[in-house]
Amino acid sequence: MGPDGSLKIAGECSDKVGPMSLTFEMDPPVDAQLRDGLCTLWADVTNAGGAIGFVPPVTPDAIRQDLLTHLVSVDAGRTRMLIGRDEHGAIAAGAFLVLNTHRLKRHWCSVYTVMVHPSLQGRGHGRDLMSATEKAARGMEGITALRLTCRGGLGLEQFYASCGYREVGRLPGAIKVADGELRDDVTLWMDLA
Ligand SMILES: CC(C)(COP(=O)(O)OP(=O)(O)OC[C@H]1O[C@@H](n2cnc3c(N)ncnc32)[C@H](O)[C@@H]1OP(=O)(O)O)[C@@H](O)C(=O)NCCC(=O)NCCS
Repeated sequence: MGPDGSLKIAGECSDKVGPMSLTFEMDPPVDAQLRDGLCTLWADVTNAGGAIGFVPPVTPDAIRQDLLTHLVSVDAGRTRMLIGRDEHGAIAAGAFLVLNTHRLKRHWCSVYTVMVHPSLQGRGHGRDLMSATEKAARGMEGITALRLTCRGGLGLEQFYASCGYREVGRLPGAIKVADGELRDDVTLWMDLA
């Protein structure tokens, strides 16, 4: 635990291309650089075809309000934020863990906005990010399961299955990416017990 309350989680390097691994940190201090870095990462990932709540083309500014909503929740302790940085300290990956407020659902939380910068995808960083997320969740008192949803049709179910999640539900056509273009909303689950 750092003096500012943040928690560093060592990335388990499974890099297939080069020696670079990401350094993961939970709930780092929020400043303008972090906000801008996250907006840019979110926009770059979306514009490369990533399924994280927007459709391309999108600008960092169009994403800012959604990010600020997450950050307000982080500040209130209802959301935990996991950030991955490259060897230069640039924000290269991220995910949010949202705690449930419902009294009967406080034993699990939801993982949102799982993203790795397009220039770094396919090198094992996504798996490292999910491993750091799982490790962080296991360290959170009372959390015994993780839930995740993803857009169907992109192969993401296979990625999450390789990270230990199993598909537990699917809402057919529940995501509309454009008029007449519907995608399934897939729910995945991981027991931590
Ligand atoms: C999904 C994402 C986080 C995966 O990160 P990554 O760094 O590219 O993934 P990794 O290199 O760790 O891949 C791990 C394994 O999953 C597979 N995989 C990754 N993305 C995949 C996809 N979209 N479809 C099928 N398999 C995929 C890889 O081939 C690899 O398999 P292998 O070990 O058998 O070779 C990243 O591609 C991303 O940010 N995508 C855009 C945003 C997005 O859609 N996020 C999901 C929100 S629900």
